[in-house]
Parts: sequence; C-alpha cells; structure tokens
Amino acid sequence: MKRRTFLKLSSMTAVVLFTGCGDDESNIDQGSADVLAVALPIPTLLHSTQRNGVMHYDLNIVEGNHQFFDGVKTKSYGIDSSYLGPTLLLKNGETVSVNYTNNLKEDTTMHAHGMRLPGTMDGSAHQVIKVGKTWSAQYTVNQNACTNWYHPHYMGKTAEHVYEGLAGIIIVEDSESSALDLPNRYGVDDIPLVLQDRKFSADRTEMDYSPTNMELSRGYIGETFIVNGAIAPTFDAEAKEIRFRLLNGSNSTMYELGFNENISFKQIASDNGLLEAPVSMSRLLLSPGERAEIVVDFTDAAAESFTLKEFRHDKTFMTINVKDTATAVTTLPDTLASLEPVATPVRSRRFELDMAGMGRFTINNKVMDLNRIDANLNQGEAEEWEVVNKMNVDHNFHVHGSHFRVVSRNNNTAAVKKSEQGYKDVVHIPPNESVKIIVQINDVTADANAPFMFHCHFLEHEDHGMMGQFTVS
Ligand code: C2O
Ligand code: CU
Ligand code: CU
Repeated sequence: MKRRTFLKLSSMTAVVLFTGCGDDESNIDQGSADVLAVALPIPTLLHSTQRNGVMHYDLNIVEGNHQFFDGVKTKSYGIDSSYLGPTLLLKNGETVSVNYTNNLKEDTTMHAHGMRLPGTMDGSAHQVIKVGKTWSAQYTVNQNACTNWYHPHYMGKTAEHVYEGLAGIIIVEDSESSALDLPNRYGVDDIPLVLQDRKFSADRTEMDYSPTNMELSRGYIGETFIVNGAIAPTFDAEAKEIRFRLLNGSNSTMYELGFNENISFKQIASDNGLLEAPVSMSRLLLSPGERAEIVVDFTDAAAESFTLKEFRHDKTFMTINVKDTATAVTTLPDTLASLEPVATPVRSRRFELDMAGMGRFTINNKVMDLNRIDANLNQGEAEEWEVVNKMNVDHNFHVHGSHFRVVSRNNNTAAVKKSEQGYKDVVHIPPNESVKIIVQINDVTADANAPFMFHCHFLEHEDHGMMGQFTVS
C-alpha cells in the first residue's frame, strides 16, 4: 500500500507548511521544500445580475500577485482573482451578457471556448478588448450541458496570456442533465479542476514564459504541475460519488490522468456534452483545451487517501482525502444522453498540420493570417474534415462555433474510442496520424469581419501560425 499519510487540515482555508517530503511519493512537493499545503481552491461561482431580462456577468481582467510558494508573491494575471477566474454557470435558453473589462496594461481578448455563439460574440482575435475598455459577449445559450472555458485569443499572445493566468470555467446546465442523478453540488461533489503546468523564475517572483524553438515544437512543459492555481493541494471528499470536471488548461502538455493504484473511474462527458453512457477507465488522455467529466466513486473509501496523477511526466496533481461521511448520495445512471446520429457530409476538406522552418507552424502550408479566410461553410451543411498530422510531435485540432463528431482515426472507424464518440470541439492527433471529423454548424453564422477559427490548441503552435479562419453563412 502506497497511500499518502492523511494530512488533516483544520478548515477548508487552512494553510500549513508542507513538510511531508522524503516519502516515496515525494514528487508531490514538486522538488521544492517551500510548497504550501493548501486545500484545493474552488473557483467562486459568479453571480449574475438581471437587467432587462438579460443575465449580466461582470468580469475584470487584472494584474495580480499569486501565492504559489510559501512566502513568495508571483506576478500573475487573473479575472477578479490573482490567478484564473470565477466559474460561470449558464443555463440553456438564458440570454446572457458576459462583460469583460480589461484592466491590464496590454490589449487582450476573451474567447468562450465551446460555446455556440455568432462569430461577433466569439471573443476571438477579431474582438480585441483595448486597455481600459469593456467588451460584452451577448447571446442566448443554445446548447446541451457541458464544461466549457474562457481564455484570451489575442493574435500571437494567446499562449502568454493564458500562461499568466487568464482562464476560467463555464458550466452549461440544461433541464435533461439536471434531472439525472449526477453529483451537482458545486464545490462539494461537483468539482472543476483546471490542470496546468508552469515554469518559474529562479526567485519565483514571476512565471517564466520563454520557450526555445525546440520547446515551441515539442511543447513548453513546466516542472511544477498545478491545479486551480495551487501546487499539490488537498481535497476533502465526501464518501460518495464525486464528479470532477477536468480541463487540460496547459499550453502544450499532454496529460495522461489517473489515480494511484489504478483505481477506475467513469467518464461521463466529453468536451461538449454528456456521453451516451458512462465509460469505465483507469487512464484518461487529455490534450490541451480538451475537457472530460469523470465520476469517481468513493462510497467505500471512507478515511482513505488518493492522488490524482499525471503519468507521462510522473507528477501528482492533488491529494484526495475521503471523509467518513456523505450527504445526499447519488447513483450514476446507466444511460446519460441520446446523441444525434452523425450527419452525412455533403463535401470534404483536408487540413495538413506541418511546419515551415523553425517556429513557423502551418495548416495546408499557410501560417495564420487575420486577413485571409480559409474556408466558407454553409449553415446546416455537414462536412467531413480530414486533419493530418504531418509532424513527429503531438497536435490537436479545435473548431470554433461547432460541436463536431469524430468518425475515424487513420481511416479506421473502429479506432474511435467510446469516450470520443460524443460531442467534441478539440481532437488529439498523435504524431504522423490523421483523424476525420464531421463538422456541422446549424444555429450560428460568422462573416469575414468576425470569422470562426480552427487551430491546433497547443498554444505555442497556434501563436506561431497553426491556425486558419472560416465563415458560416
Ligand atoms: Cu480555446 Cu480558439 O480556442
Ligand atoms: Cu475555441
Ligand atoms: Cu500543434
């Protein structure tokens, strides 16, 4: 048995100096003696104010100082916070106005990743929020329950702005999913986990964003793994089913997630919605920008401790201490949602991901150009997109405004795992492999002044050219 000793915190906000290095799971202290032992920070749920039938969410993008290490203030960005931002809880059918005020000393944007919005409300590189200005995304939520997120999309600076701390979770709720017996008490048994990794300057007063050409290509991977802005925090879980909403919020690190002792868990949702049925697994691979909701059953684990691990880099994200009590027990249903049949495509397109010299990443041999439209789609028409990774490194592919379906990998339909047969907006493409997806945009449009984007979500690749634009009319 290699379980961590139970580290008891006197309250949810208690901060005590971590002293537990030296055991065989000492990578939990990320190689540093001055890591704080903190309770898992839960991003606050942002309350909206209703004005004229519209739910307004007001957010301030600010500079801050975040405490990652004991006694050290690290310069950071955040949204109404020193690092990351509050969680937005949006209900399907509701008309919202998400108002971002830029209090930074530089321009940025704020994109609602996974939301089906008109191009003008997308918060892409075309909707710049100037220093001191407020930009509002107004729209009616029109999609199924899922876990989305918001983050900057400023041309050439997305990676840096996200690295500094700009990102937050969007939870979409609908009546079908609320009627299911799923854990849905936010912060109690329904827990968002923004997973990231960071490098710090030697004195840790700054995060160190300085990728080399090699790191631009292979990934800018920090040695310090963090969850919700904390290093190796502890979560006290009720002895029941717990739902974790996992976001790979890293710039360019693949996360192979699981727990110590290979305990199994069930994936219940992919990027844009519930799966048809829970899928059992003990490892979950998430590429940057992807989300997965999982349910772990701690019913029979009272007083035990677990760790959420990342196996590709042998890191520990967090410790879970199971309490000996549970309230409001849930029972995961066998069926979760009925998915629409995959549409028959009326045309096909091919996108080749490659590079053209050091630090220049391309799609179909072109680097991103804000003034070029790469594809025009017709609303309601399904298309088959083949995305080919021509390189020897991992890539993925994200499409704005759409929920796509993955239909084959390397032309093999059987290679598409159950867990990726639901609605997706990011798909991983391993080195030298290809994937086919069906893209269909039914409800929204995007014109040449505010087009949608498709890109690799490894942010270093995106910022250095691996992105294109499309209209929907
Ligand atoms: Cu999450 Cu175009 O981005
Ligand atoms: Cu997006
Ligand atoms: Cu890439």
